[in-house]
Amino acid sequence: MSHFGFVHNGWLGDAAHAQVEVGQVEETAAGVQANHCRAWQPQGYAGSSGGQFVAYRYAVVGPYAATLQKDAVVHNGPRNAIALFINPVHDEACTAWFVMSTVNDPSTDESLRAFQDAVFAQDRPVVESQTPVRLPIHKGSSVDTDVPPEVHGPSDRLSAAYRRCLLRWGVTVGVC
Ligand SMILES: [Fe+2]
Repeated sequence: MSHFGFVHNGWLGDAAHAQVEVGQVEETAAGVQANHCRAWQPQGYAGSSGGQFVAYRYAVVGPYAATLQKDAVVHNGPRNAIALFINPVHDEACTAWFVMSTVNDPSTDESLRAFQDAVFAQDRPVVESQTPVRLPIHKGSSVDTDVPPEVHGPSDRLSAAYRRCLLRWGVTVGVC
């Protein structure tokens, strides 16, 4: 979520309001989840007419499969449920499939698609410019790999837990 104010400035985040609540991360037998996440979003939904706080819940439910629930923190505000399925094409490329349902957002299907396409278009150059290209999935040591070590901050708890899940599941390569 910490990228919202920078990659999605004016949309899912605001550089002048960049602090987000990254919630609580829990590793479960099924995967990993993060609850009680919250961020200020200038335009969090296709039909937004102003900024608002939005609550997020994330869950990784299997290798390359995640869900996201996104609820405006106002009575009868818009709510989205999103599922992301990542299909590895080869070791350094994947296709992301995206399914979304929404309530309390009067936008047309075309507007909903255009909004999500715009958000993904903001993410894409950042994701595709990462070095190394492959996720650094390893046990924390770079001794037996050419993957450089990383430094994680509190906002990286979910992605770090996701990588531990991938290790537990025996996934050794991936780019998402
Ligand atoms: Fe993003």
